[in-house]
Amino acid sequence: MNSMTLSLFLHLVSVVVWVGGMFFAYMALRPVAAAVLEPPQRLTLWAGVFGKFFPWVWTSVGLILVSGFYMLMLIGGPAAPHYAFTMMALGVAMMLIFAHVFFAPYSRLKRAVAAQDWKAGGAALGQIRKLIGINLSLGLLTIAVVFLGRAFA
Ligand code: HEM
Repeated sequence: MNSMTLSLFLHLVSVVVWVGGMFFAYMALRPVAAAVLEPPQRLTLWAGVFGKFFPWVWTSVGLILVSGFYMLMLIGGPAAPHYAFTMMALGVAMMLIFAHVFFAPYSRLKRAVAAQDWKAGGAALGQIRKLIGINLSLGLLTIAVVFLGRAFA
């Protein structure tokens, strides 16, 4: 296996874990949790779910960055096709949004759940929901940009 194939494999597995995880959380778990659980159970569930999911997102972010910049170098650096730079810009935006979620509303959610402050927890979860909705859209858009870019390159 050459290093381009290995990098692309790690890149795509990481994208599947991150974007697929956001899709499941947003489209499947969120509406059902909102319909069947009261705030104390619902906020405790989400703090636990994010506690399990976010370390995988950090791992994915690291692998996407390393594999992405390595492949960018292999396919010509500054001479790489435009869609690769669009992907890089969207990818970096997604990573900054994730880092913000992790260090701001997610840490507020954990503190609120520990203190059983369901009002503050609800506010933090609302911000996380909005930001993950944006990141899920950006992730799907990025995949579309890459495939359209390749089709027309
Ligand atoms: C810093 C961020 C990123 C960089 C520098 C980067 C760079 C690259 C490069 C250079 C390739 C190989 C392109 C080619 O061979 O034509 C690639 C492939 C790909 N990337 Fe990224 N990427 C980044 C983030 C992302 C993100 C966030 C997603 C999706 C949400 C993504 C989705 C893809 C897909 C689907 C491919 C496969 C394209 C194919 O070979 O058909 N990338 N990436």
